[in-house]
Amino acid sequence: MALPSRVKIVEVSPRDGLQNEKEFVPTDIKVELINRLSAAGFPNVEAASFVSPKWVPQMADGADVMARIERRPGTIYSVLTPNMKGFEGALAAGADEIVIFGAASEAFSQKNINCSIAESIARFEPVVQAAREAGIRVRGSISCALGCPYQGEVPIESVVDVAQRYLAMQVDEIDVADTIGVGTPQLVRDVMTAVTRVVDPARVSGHFHDTYGQALANILAALETGISIFHTSVAGLGGCPYAKGATGNVATEDVLYMLRGLDIDTGVDFDAVVDIGQWMSANLNRKGSSRAGNAIAAKRAA
Ligand code: HMG
Ligand code: MG
Repeated sequence: MALPSRVKIVEVSPRDGLQNEKEFVPTDIKVELINRLSAAGFPNVEAASFVSPKWVPQMADGADVMARIERRPGTIYSVLTPNMKGFEGALAAGADEIVIFGAASEAFSQKNINCSIAESIARFEPVVQAAREAGIRVRGSISCALGCPYQGEVPIESVVDVAQRYLAMQVDEIDVADTIGVGTPQLVRDVMTAVTRVVDPARVSGHFHDTYGQALANILAALETGISIFHTSVAGLGGCPYAKGATGNVATEDVLYMLRGLDIDTGVDFDAVVDIGQWMSANLNRKGSSRAGNAIAAKRAA
């Protein structure tokens, strides 16, 4: 299949990237990160989570973050909402898109959101309905679509089953997420092929963590199955607090570099993203994990 000529990058570092940080990242830094990302041209920035602050303390300032960012016209600012309480926060904060997040693995569902897959779907239904009534976009994330830290292998039918449940709720977009970064390109091809048999590929995204160094190869495999939306995190920040050992999302800089080489347009200012990655890493007092970002920064400094 011919590769798409344009790809939508959803920048998830303010949420997925920071949620796992041990030290609380000041609200000012989160706001500046989001402002810099939207100024760099990302069409969609995952800005915050409206989850229990006891479960994810790093995201406790979501309402403040959303109140203080500069909204760039045309940018979609998304937030995670596991239940109606989260949705009320998202609505008050003026989120453009909410993200419901279920899993293809029962064990992970219990660990991450403290309920079974079926219970999570029942919780999401009123959330999605309320969002639709309020004219807010809805994205449905499927965690552990390529493997689970507790259960191991995850049957492809389980991924397709959750996708179909989301579809029945009329979500706008469905994320196939490799939470712990264990997938390899053939599995990505198989899962994406199965999911896109039931969901229009234009509404499916790939969310790849890079724990096993497979994320770029997985994105290429997904592109070959017609997927054109990917989630990335500047400087490779990220991880899920309920998925032990999982490292960050694939680094935005690395993905932009690869897509540029494939002549695929994203509308994003690559040089600005390299700067953001270096700035954010300095704020966190460590070197970022983007190979392309670090190589370009070193070349600039030489
Ligand atoms: P629970 O304890 O079963 O919920 O948690 P509960 O309804 O019994 O409520 C317990 C307490 O939480 C109560 O407070 C509620 O008010 C409060 P208390 O009376 O004890 O003071 N509460 C909330 N507070 C703020 N906002 C809310 C909210 N809901 C309840 N929305 C719950 C269930 C879902 C809330 C909890 O398990 C939770 O917050 N989990 C979040 C987990 C999370 O954020 N994980 C990381 C994001 S997912 C991810 O990273 C994967 C992804 O990147 C894709 C991938 O890579 O796979 C998306
Ligand atoms: Mg994730």
